[in-house]
Amino acid sequence: MANSHSKIAVLGSGKGSNFAALAEAMTNHLLEVEIALVISDVESAGILELARRRSIRAEYLAPGKFRSKLDEEAEQKLISMVTSANVEWVVLAGYMRILKGELLRQFQNRVVNIHPSLLPAFPGLGAWKQALDYGVKQTGCTVHLVDQGIDTGPIVAQEAVPVLSNDTPATLHERIQQVERRLYPAALQQLVTGRIRVEGRRTFTI
Ligand code: GAR
Repeated sequence: MANSHSKIAVLGSGKGSNFAALAEAMTNHLLEVEIALVISDVESAGILELARRRSIRAEYLAPGKFRSKLDEEAEQKLISMVTSANVEWVVLAGYMRILKGELLRQFQNRVVNIHPSLLPAFPGLGAWKQALDYGVKQTGCTVHLVDQGIDTGPIVAQEAVPVLSNDTPATLHERIQQVERRLYPAALQQLVTGRIRVEGRRTFTI
């Protein structure tokens, strides 16, 4: 791998299918990054196992006492893990904790997330189920930069997925994830190679 490739950290809490898609794109030279480490707040998360199988450093970071965010000690630890690994981008792939404060200040417009809806519709948890319950005919997924809000940062890429009349939460989520696995590596490649300019809330491909 060329040394000029941006180093990234991938954070996830779940099975890691987005991480696997990013790693695959990296192997196929479609995504010019080096995945320096993978971090999870769930010790048994599939994403850690998938990383280890690819000989990528995988670390469990205990989140501390809160349910939906990191406590101060865990956030400091996260910052020191990513900075000591010389990471330029923090890539969230199903990371179910809200990141705030110091990490976002140090990595302004360099924390990226994929969310399973067409934001600003259905932020937060279970976005595919929210879409189904609301009755929309189209949902999708969004790649966005992370700011202090919940799923509110500048949008980098979006793709629609139709909601079918026989969809269950599981079938809809699976079809959204198929699109995520294509959209995320492509959007990230544009970001890490400097082809996306951010102006306020808007992003432009240059
Ligand atoms: C993905 O569908 C991602 O969009 C979602 O979690 C799933 C993780 O799956 N993220 C969120 O809901 C963030 N609010 P994965 O572990 O297989 O990549």
